[in-house]
Amino acid sequence: MKVAVNVFQTLFSTLLAGSLCVSAPVLAAKKADFYHFPPGFLWGTATAAYQVEGGIQNDWSAAGLDAGQAADHAKRYEEDFDTLEKMGTPAYRLSIEWAKLEPEPGKYNRQALEEYRKMLKSLNQRGIQPMVTLFHFTLPTWFAQKGGWTRPENIQDFVRFCTWASGELKDEVHWWFTINEPLVYAFKSYDAGAWPPFQKDRNMALRVIKHLILAHAEAYRAVHAQDPIAWVGFAKNITLLEPNVAGNPLDQAMTGFQSYLFNEAFWDAISQGELNFSVPGVEPIQIPYNKNLHGSMDFVAFNYYTRYMITASGAQVTRPGVPVNELNWEIYPEGLLKVLRLAHKHAKRLHVPIIISENGLADADDSQRRAFLLQHLQQIWQGLQEGIPVAGYLHWSLMDNYEWADGFAAKFGLLDIQRKWRPSGLMFQEIVKQNGFPAAWLEQHPLPAK
Ligand code: FCB
Repeated sequence: MKVAVNVFQTLFSTLLAGSLCVSAPVLAAKKADFYHFPPGFLWGTATAAYQVEGGIQNDWSAAGLDAGQAADHAKRYEEDFDTLEKMGTPAYRLSIEWAKLEPEPGKYNRQALEEYRKMLKSLNQRGIQPMVTLFHFTLPTWFAQKGGWTRPENIQDFVRFCTWASGELKDEVHWWFTINEPLVYAFKSYDAGAWPPFQKDRNMALRVIKHLILAHAEAYRAVHAQDPIAWVGFAKNITLLEPNVAGNPLDQAMTGFQSYLFNEAFWDAISQGELNFSVPGVEPIQIPYNKNLHGSMDFVAFNYYTRYMITASGAQVTRPGVPVNELNWEIYPEGLLKVLRLAHKHAKRLHVPIIISENGLADADDSQRRAFLLQHLQQIWQGLQEGIPVAGYLHWSLMDNYEWADGFAAKFGLLDIQRKWRPSGLMFQEIVKQNGFPAAWLEQHPLPAK
């Protein structure tokens, strides 16, 4: 059975009361000797099925991007959950693989379902809340072959899957994420041509975004029909976008446009129940008022990794000389506070709490991760002081895994793929135990350049 939710509801009411009654001022950065987090804060780690489980056949493997045995988590999950128990984290975000569970349209694989049920039970028995994503970038091949998210009539396939999966697993799962990073998926797969089905068609990417918004709304309602008291949301990637040259009006205009589309449009569509996005040269996204869409989010969840600077031509660049990780992503902890303030604007409209559903970096020798972790947590602490209702922080990732088109080279784990703890993993364990960390650690762990 799932872990009692009262403690979290209490935490949320406290956080929300703080944020909604006081008109949260933007405070000057405070200093503390010890960065305390609120009681009941949801510490955790995050993974996704295809990246960790191993042996999955889906549209990625069919396209030649085969994760193979990945991190062998399907075989080693008990051992991995022992690790979570040692880490002391009250939450764990994972995804269930649609391709495994519904290998043919409408035909479900009971054995795969029972295996997931066992996993989820095992987490609950350990007092760890599973947070389950229903679509994390990968699809059954039959769904991809019929056009995937490019065709509005395909949305019903996903909704059917969500109805079935949430109905079957509702006793074990209280937290559902319908979709992971819809805009990243749409642009990588349909505009950049980097992920299956490798298309380069911007209008198609915009159509896919529209269908993902509608799919989310229907999936949200479907899960709630199975379990009215479930918490249902989705994970939005928020990359901080800022003008490359601060005073340049063209850079500013392009930043405003990109920032709205990438970061805010999906949230706006949910809080208003409609979306009218149009710019010259591309197909508009028009969603007339839809009551299923309106308010379809019980929490605001976002994944924060980095910042890009935007030029007038629309290019997303990393400024030379800034600290970066091994994938050349800028390490910009202050950006997390800026993004929290943005998320708060949307969370306030719906009176819901905020979860940081992913944050981490590629750092094979673990030379940067401790500083990264501490500096990002310091920004979250600052957000909490401003009254932003942050209910949890999930680090990406528990162990090294298959990093999409970057393969196994990018190492995001608190543990490596052999399950050896990195020093940052031990530090995270200590932070969770103390529900915070001493300020002195920030000085003891400066960020080295790479
Ligand atoms: C996010 C994805 C996640 C992982 C991290 C590094 O965009 O949601 O699966 O690949 O990046």
